[in-house]
Amino acid sequence: MLNLCCLFGGESTEYEVSLRSVTSVIENADPAKYILTTVGITRDGKWYLYDGPIAAIARDEWWKDPAHIHPAMISPSKGDRCLLVLDGTTYRKIPLDVVFPVMHGAHCEDGTLQGLLELSGIPFVGPDCRSSAVCMDKFSTKAVLNNFMIPQAKVEFVTRRELAEDFDAVAARVAALGYPVFVKPSATGSSIGVSKVRTPDALRAAIENAAKFDDVVLVEEFIDGREIEVAVMGNADPIASVCGEIDPGSDFYDYETKYVSDTASYYIPARLSDEASDAIRKTACEIYRRLGCKGLSRVDFFYTAEGRYIFNEINTLPGFTSISMYPKLFMAGGLTYAEVIDRLVEYALAE
Ligand SMILES: Nc1ncnc2c1ncn2[C@@H]1O[C@H](COP(=O)(O)OP(=O)(O)O)[C@@H](O)[C@H]1O
Ligand SMILES: [Mg+2]
Repeated sequence: MLNLCCLFGGESTEYEVSLRSVTSVIENADPAKYILTTVGITRDGKWYLYDGPIAAIARDEWWKDPAHIHPAMISPSKGDRCLLVLDGTTYRKIPLDVVFPVMHGAHCEDGTLQGLLELSGIPFVGPDCRSSAVCMDKFSTKAVLNNFMIPQAKVEFVTRRELAEDFDAVAARVAALGYPVFVKPSATGSSIGVSKVRTPDALRAAIENAAKFDDVVLVEEFIDGREIEVAVMGNADPIASVCGEIDPGSDFYDYETKYVSDTASYYIPARLSDEASDAIRKTACEIYRRLGCKGLSRVDFFYTAEGRYIFNEINTLPGFTSISMYPKLFMAGGLTYAEVIDRLVEYALAE
């Protein structure tokens, strides 16, 4: 039996997505293989061992019953590989073989937590601190991939300072991209702060909104294409799932479409020729390696009517809910959800 610690919640704007993701992981992890320790992190960043009912997690009520939450932490001090659970002035230790951060976004997926785990010496699921940080930040991801001829949308980067000091210059740079454009914070997820801007008069408000979430804002040319996602897993020699396709059934794949409404249609496998699908899967693995990923990531593309595929973004801890693309893409290839978890744990322990 392995001691598997699932971390959930977290300070990011994707807190609620994590609650759903972790519920699926807990429900599907093979009880014959794992002793689960569940640690919830509140919206304001407090860590608790949680030993209450699973159903209370998705309802966001897990933190409400003091009987089931116990202050806890993973120490950066290398040693015992355990969770420290604080009971008043004393503490007890729960041994951990591997940590699965089932969390998304800032302080969860962006290298912060991964840095702590690296210091602790406890193996964990997903890319390391450096790769997580590069992949979470769209500005950095694009900068790295530009060195390797990976096709990407044209982009202008705008900082809060430029926005405040010389918006006219920003507007002129953006005009060269041609409207519509997409505006997004460099390092959020779940489409938070993302908007489609059709005319120059709407640009400023869109950038100001995105700048609430990040100092750096991306303004991208609009890519008129179908949305294709590829799940990748592995370490030095990663494997790609079949391609999946999302038709948002709305203006674009915004937060509402992702988690609230049910307009979106999903195609697994994507409606692509074998040649296009193989080329995209191969490129997904190349991107994964170039960005130094290990464990898992989901790589997202646009596929245009002319047959061009354009990299959009990478997610190192993608959604893991029962309806999320990452597990579903590997399940289409014959793995069960439980086996996807097993593989990720194996990759975490392999190094
Ligand atoms: N350059 C673009 N052209 C067309 N649609 C885009 C573009 N950038 C983003 N989108 C749309 O916005 C959604 C969210 O943007 P994305 O870059 O994936 O951010 P997030 O990390 O929040 O998922 C995409 O799934 C897509 O529907
Ligand atoms: Mg996305």
